[in-house]
Amino acid sequence: MKIAVPSETAAGENRCAASAESVKAFVKKGLKVAVQSGAGLGANISDADYAAAGAEIVKGTSVVKDADIVLSIRRPSDAILKAMKKGAVLAGGLEPHGDRKALEAFAKSGVTAFAMELMPRISRAQAMDILSSQANLAGYKSVIDAAAYYGRAIPMMMTAAGTVPPAKIFIMGVGVAGLQAIATARRLGGIVSATDVRKATEEQVKSLGAKFVFADVADAATSGGYAKELSAEDKAKQAKLVADHVKNQDIVITTALIPGRPAPVLITKEMVESMKPGSVIVDLAVERGGNCPLSKPDEIVVHKGVSIIGTVNLAGKLAGNATPLFAKNLQNFIDLMISKEGNLAIDFEDECIKGTLIAKDGALVHTMYGAK
Ligand code: NAI
Repeated sequence: MKIAVPSETAAGENRCAASAESVKAFVKKGLKVAVQSGAGLGANISDADYAAAGAEIVKGTSVVKDADIVLSIRRPSDAILKAMKKGAVLAGGLEPHGDRKALEAFAKSGVTAFAMELMPRISRAQAMDILSSQANLAGYKSVIDAAAYYGRAIPMMMTAAGTVPPAKIFIMGVGVAGLQAIATARRLGGIVSATDVRKATEEQVKSLGAKFVFADVADAATSGGYAKELSAEDKAKQAKLVADHVKNQDIVITTALIPGRPAPVLITKEMVESMKPGSVIVDLAVERGGNCPLSKPDEIVVHKGVSIIGTVNLAGKLAGNATPLFAKNLQNFIDLMISKEGNLAIDFEDECIKGTLIAKDGALVHTMYGAK
């Protein structure tokens, strides 16, 4: 049984789907691991580190030839898919909500593909949840980036020359990223408030010492732990509350997402214009259309003195942490499909396997694509 880890090819992607620790764990189980030369460099893991962990280092895309399992951070290039064995397992961040035509073409390659983004929200699956492990880092980094662009200090400082007021920081969307953003903003000494459309987040926000701002809307929590879209009436209520609150904020971090849908617009152009010059917005949802219509992927837009940061893949900017966490999520997932003897033994009825399987035998097979 062979596991292969090709280099990521997307621009700015520094993460790698294996860490030295995950390689070591696979090797200990009696599996062979091949890593493409240079695959870990963005995360400061050298070929020598992988080799010391027991991996074979292979140049180029031939790394995946003969592999039974291929691990990746993102959907691999056509060159990798072509080089893979028919029916081989592919597990990674496969962007299952992406363009349908591209997904169909991807499925045609014949891989047995598992999109880790679709991991069910059950306690057993927490150790395999790439959205959580990466969003946590993104939430932290969003506040650090906001602080770097904010031309003032975050904490209150009392000096002989006068008092520096604390920054007011508002977090919109209190999922995994939002919770870490609240914790980070509090550690920096900001006055922190937060909002969400899931009522269950109120307690979490308060337990972190932040103020909860909640519009009187119907609880938008789904049984899967995610949010659903608000009704038009509730959207208007939320917009009014947010508009009044945002005016007085120095930093706003938006993290609101709805699975499979464009991100909801939470900060309109008018709201941006109501903020003081020098304020900063970080739009973590920029890749999914953005929570602010002014944000642009990988740009810092300055609108009437307000900086709107649209950095994509914030977790990837912390590749040194993001890589071992992502790799551990994948390792835990692969463990599910390996028998004691070290053979591939996939239980297609297992909730975590079934929930993430998107392509098999040349077709898209998940219910989200209309499959039975
Ligand atoms: P997400 O990344 O899909 O969304 C971020 C946040 O935006 C969510 O809290 C969502 O409610 C909020 N949101 C959506 N529309 C909004 C709007 N119009 N205004 C304000 N906020 C809006 O969510 P994430 O981070 O993936 O987590 C969602 C929940 O799932 C969390 O409660 C988390 O604790 C739970 N979870 C459970 C896991 C498990 O049991 N295995 C693993 C990971 C998370």
